[in-house]
Amino acid sequence: MNIAVIGAQWGDEGKGKIVDLLTPNASIVARYQGGHNAGHTVRVGGTEFILHLLPSGILHPGVRCVIGNGVVIDPQALFTEIDTLAAQGIEVGGRLLISDRAHVILPYHRDLEALSESRRGDQRIGTTSRGIGPSYEDKVGRRGIRAADLADGSEDGALASAIRANVSARNEALGGAAADWRALHADVCAAARRLAGWVGDASVFLARAFEAGECVLFEGAQGTLLDIDHGTYPFVTSSNATVGGICTGLGVGPRAIGSVLGIVKAYTTRVGEGPLPTELHGDEGDQLRESGREYGASTGRPRRCGWYDAVVVRYAVRVNGLDALAVTKLDVLDGLDEIPLCTGYRHGERLLTEFPGSRTVLAECRPVYERLPGWSRPTAGVRRYEDLPPEARAYLGRIEALSGVPIAIVSTGSDRADTILVRDGLVDRWQAERALAAQESAP
Ligand code: IMP
Repeated sequence: MNIAVIGAQWGDEGKGKIVDLLTPNASIVARYQGGHNAGHTVRVGGTEFILHLLPSGILHPGVRCVIGNGVVIDPQALFTEIDTLAAQGIEVGGRLLISDRAHVILPYHRDLEALSESRRGDQRIGTTSRGIGPSYEDKVGRRGIRAADLADGSEDGALASAIRANVSARNEALGGAAADWRALHADVCAAARRLAGWVGDASVFLARAFEAGECVLFEGAQGTLLDIDHGTYPFVTSSNATVGGICTGLGVGPRAIGSVLGIVKAYTTRVGEGPLPTELHGDEGDQLRESGREYGASTGRPRRCGWYDAVVVRYAVRVNGLDALAVTKLDVLDGLDEIPLCTGYRHGERLLTEFPGSRTVLAECRPVYERLPGWSRPTAGVRRYEDLPPEARAYLGRIEALSGVPIAIVSTGSDRADTILVRDGLVDRWQAERALAAQESAP
């Protein structure tokens, strides 16, 4: 009965809204990878919430949230987010559990990231400058610091020695003004005291929840094409945003995952550098960016925009074993006469319908478009599938046919209520099952 929500493009697909929408049927929402590079915007009744590290389920009273071992946590960023939510009337309190195996991001990670990006010159990744990559590098390099390690406050303990070694490596790499490990150690100890009440064994917590028949929603950050293994390497993030990240990033088995819902925008966007085959330059791209308000929720950077790419989404369906799609921002395409949709890539004489692994091949690919008619009436705010203009339904039908999986949700606006739940679709059936289970277990 659990459900995973996964980005099927380059991130920013609108996962936050969909998780928020599904949360009333879950008792736990769990994040399994990434860090505060993510920016999930959820708008509820005119109030906008932007979440970076905390799972979007936190907006629902009573729902418990897990930050898994696969997530990298900047304690200060987490505190800022918790305090901002408190000011907006949302109390995190005891509803949060942070895996004791999650790694932390410290200031030297940001310094090292700035150095690495500047050394790359025109080959820079265009990262979010949050220290995400260097923190994962420390994890894989077996010199990272995990939440469980923070309890050791002594100046000659393992935590102090790891901070001293990492700060010394940072000072050597950067030159210039040296960072002071003792000052950082004191800051980390202060942060550890605030974090302590939230840190625990997330894998055990989830296993017990499954045994008790609780429903868990797994919330992905970024998207399939930003995945360290399956994305457009090296222009990717440093974690597994795809479905496999759930098992490794939370300490759960594959059978716990249940259904997998892929989130796609009705067009395509990407932030940062790297290939984007259907990218639009000039007026068309600007128009999509403005009507879709395509600016990063974390960094404010303008997003690159392009037409819907069915090759990419088909790839995401395969890599994640998607059961269904949620299509967001359909309304952004309102008013267009014609909507191109990419069905394959032309590579020399060949027509590719599978996403290529080689970045050289990808750079040489040219999108092949099918052109569908735009719709005469706006879709903005439409809440029933039958009320969509026939051309919009045809567009969605083509997306389904090209991806090979059904559409379960269509989002037609930023508010929670501007959503179409496709009747008898995956989510509709799942919600009905949950309601029945709740009735049966009621005293
Ligand atoms: P990093 O995750 O900060 O290392 O950035 C690596 C790449 O992933 C860059 O192209 C970022 O723009 C991109 N990225 C990271 N997080 C997100 C996100 O939440 N949405 C969209 N792009 C992201």
